[in-house]
Amino acid sequence: MAIERTLSIIKPDATKRNLTGKIIAKFEDAGLRVVAQKRIQLTKAQAGQFYEVHKERPFYDELCEFMASGPVVVQVLEGEGAIAKNREVMGATNPADAAPGTVRAEFAQSVGENSVHGSDAPETAAQEISFFFSGLEIVG
Ligand code: CMP
Repeated sequence: MAIERTLSIIKPDATKRNLTGKIIAKFEDAGLRVVAQKRIQLTKAQAGQFYEVHKERPFYDELCEFMASGPVVVQVLEGEGAIAKNREVMGATNPADAAPGTVRAEFAQSVGENSVHGSDAPETAAQEISFFFSGLEIVG
């Protein structure tokens, strides 16, 4: 399988509970490498721009409010089949449906406050990585 890069976000519910290291350990244990990372505070407008694809959804405003409610850690993860592997490690969006041992099964609080985000396809991964990082900030 090809080496891919994917965009990962450790969300405010997780940074607030000091879970950053535990979540990164799960990615690394699965063979993903952190090739870029920064801790930032999004504005609601920036969160809205990032999640533009969900603009028409009923939860959009709540989602943007939440993503701007505290620091997030944005990362580029690299590895073989990184997009699918990251989604496997994260578990289902709703923690009630997430498989045991996944990040969301262990740490997420609700479908909204679900601790992590990961890109869902190669095109979105490329878009989402360039939203947060320049080429110079990614060191494989
Ligand atoms: P994420 O993978 O970041 O992509 C979109 C996010 O929208 C999703 O994780 C959830 O955090 C959020 N989301 C999805 N469904 C709902 C919902 N029903 N209520 C609130 N937030 C939701």
